[in-house]
Amino acid sequence: MTAKVLDGKEIAQQIMEELKPRIASLLEKGVFPGLSVIILGQNPASMSYVKSKGKACERLGMRSETIMLAETVTQKDLMTIIAKLNTDPKVHGILVQLPLPKHIDEDTVLEAINPEKDVDGFSPINMGRLLAGRDCFKPCTPNGIMELMARYGIDPAGKHAVIIGRSNIVGKPMAMLLMQKHKGANATVTVCHSRTKNMPSITKKADILIAAIGSPEFVKADMVKKNAVVIDVGINRVEDATAEKGYRLVGDVDYEAVKEVASAITPVPGGVGRMTIAMLMLNAVQAAENFAGQHNAA
Ligand SMILES: NC(=O)c1ccc[n+]([C@@H]2O[C@H](COP(=O)([O-])OP(=O)(O)OC[C@H]3O[C@@H](n4cnc5c(N)ncnc54)[C@H](OP(=O)(O)O)[C@@H]3O)[C@@H](O)[C@H]2O)c1
Repeated sequence: MTAKVLDGKEIAQQIMEELKPRIASLLEKGVFPGLSVIILGQNPASMSYVKSKGKACERLGMRSETIMLAETVTQKDLMTIIAKLNTDPKVHGILVQLPLPKHIDEDTVLEAINPEKDVDGFSPINMGRLLAGRDCFKPCTPNGIMELMARYGIDPAGKHAVIIGRSNIVGKPMAMLLMQKHKGANATVTVCHSRTKNMPSITKKADILIAAIGSPEFVKADMVKKNAVVIDVGINRVEDATAEKGYRLVGDVDYEAVKEVASAITPVPGGVGRMTIAMLMLNAVQAAENFAGQHNAA
């Protein structure tokens, strides 16, 4: 039987609808939730992600600001901009679009973002809170995957989840979220990476297989256990002369073949990517609510 499609577009839309009354309530209190996105250079993929984030804010009636900087901007100038945003009461969420040019130290930049405005959840403070299972801004992509599974009634408890990829923005926080001693988590987690030996023998044991590699259609049907849940995080541009833009987007999973083996699967596009944006909006609204709470209490 062909796998059930986990429709990130539809679930993301539901989440966005649920945010509307929360935003209305903030506006009543005189708080206009605002997200500032900083982008360095003009990498086409990054530009397209930033555009989607701005559009999502627009759809929700949130304030959004895109700060476009030259790829050659100095670390010092970037830090000055972040410092200003950190203390600006109109800005509730700050996001620096990754990856950064080589001359910029990513760790220093992420560490500079006020943790209360770190809606990407990449600052060491939020990462540490996540590791400890405490309340925090959770990284949007892995958190979107948790939410997508929850809304489709997929409970990771006691399941073997295998993640391919150990990046700080996807693989590692994904492992943290799945292994938490919390409702909706409690999975047994294995993380694979480029040094993993005999990977198919591991992925074949996964009840939940999450691919975050950045390699087009890397996961083949013979790497997947029958009836596994397969989550495809990858977004890869592959040349396609028949496509209007000259390329098409594919995931890290060989979708057509794997959907015949899996019980559920996310498509690319229309899967995890949509959830990422929705969770970013959720974090931004949460940041504005936290601000409103502190403002009222003061
Ligand atoms: N849908 C979304 O919203 C969203 C969000 C973020 C990222 N993405 C996409 O997700 C993918 C991964 O992103 P990322 O930022 O996590 O990438 P990344 O930082 O490049 O990390 C890739 C990971 O995959 C591992 N890997 C690479 N080749 C491998 C191989 N042949 N066998 C096993 N493991 C391998 C790497 O191992 P090592 O650590 O050993 O190098 C690394 O841990 C990309 O396609 C990206 O565009 C999508």
